[in-house]
Amino acid sequence: MTFKRVRKAVIPVAGFGTRVLPGTKVIPKELLNVVDRPILSYIVAEARDAGIEHFVFVTGRQKGAIEDYFDHQFELEAQLEAKGKTALLDQLLAELPKSGEMSFVRQMQPLGLGHAVNCARDIIGDEPFAVLLPDMVMDAETPALSQAISAYEKVGGNIILVEEVPADETHKYGVVAVEPSDDPLRRMTGMVEKPAKGTAPSNLIVSGRYILQPDIFPLLSQQVPGAGGEIQLTDSMVSLMKTQSFFALRYDGETYDCGDKIGLLKANVALALKRPDLDKAARAALSPYFDR
Ligand code: G1P
Repeated sequence: MTFKRVRKAVIPVAGFGTRVLPGTKVIPKELLNVVDRPILSYIVAEARDAGIEHFVFVTGRQKGAIEDYFDHQFELEAQLEAKGKTALLDQLLAELPKSGEMSFVRQMQPLGLGHAVNCARDIIGDEPFAVLLPDMVMDAETPALSQAISAYEKVGGNIILVEEVPADETHKYGVVAVEPSDDPLRRMTGMVEKPAKGTAPSNLIVSGRYILQPDIFPLLSQQVPGAGGEIQLTDSMVSLMKTQSFFALRYDGETYDCGDKIGLLKANVALALKRPDLDKAARAALSPYFDR
């Protein structure tokens, strides 16, 4: 059976980044650097690798720099050209979108992730789409979203990437209930956003990559606020689960929560150590701190 192809992705970028203030007072958290590229650069690269052809950014006030990041910076480009820094220039140009490949829609009030995703409804239209939460930088041999799309191509419906966390951390996330099996791809039986400590249905959390059917939109439009007083994507997914299949995929890779101080630090260290051009220098610079 073939399912309608996933061509579009929603990337919600309206959040305040309160966990990494004051660094995010004037700079969108999605543009904080991990090694030498903004977080968002990793997210867009992952989506491109997975075959995404159109990116819908759900932005908010103070997020204009994101739109600028994905545009020409003529003075800088001319300067790099004049100085013969062609490798760097090529790197900048390679990341620019084709014209018309990105849309920006404004979430005018911070009403929650579900509300943010719903702001993209008219641009997504009537087709399945991906959601990538940009806090979560995923480092995987096969990009995380590609793993989700491969699963979708097998079973259709809706796919949620999940990962295991210690039981005392489940209250910070959306948590899924799944049918018992050793298979990394399991049918979901339930989901709850930010369960109270000790009540989570499993220790598998929703880790920030989704493939969703457009039928989520009418549900989001009517969604009442849930956990934290916000319109939660999780709550509308629970409603959609009554009529459509949801599968949770334990993906193969490492996640760094870059909306968090320690996660951001870990991402910088781990990804610098994996870079062939920086590995040795990074190791030498960091090793004195390991034995303290
Ligand atoms: C959001 C989702 C949650 C998910 C988490 C992953 O929560 O609502 O289900 O587990 O992202 O980071 P937030 O981090 O916005 O509170």
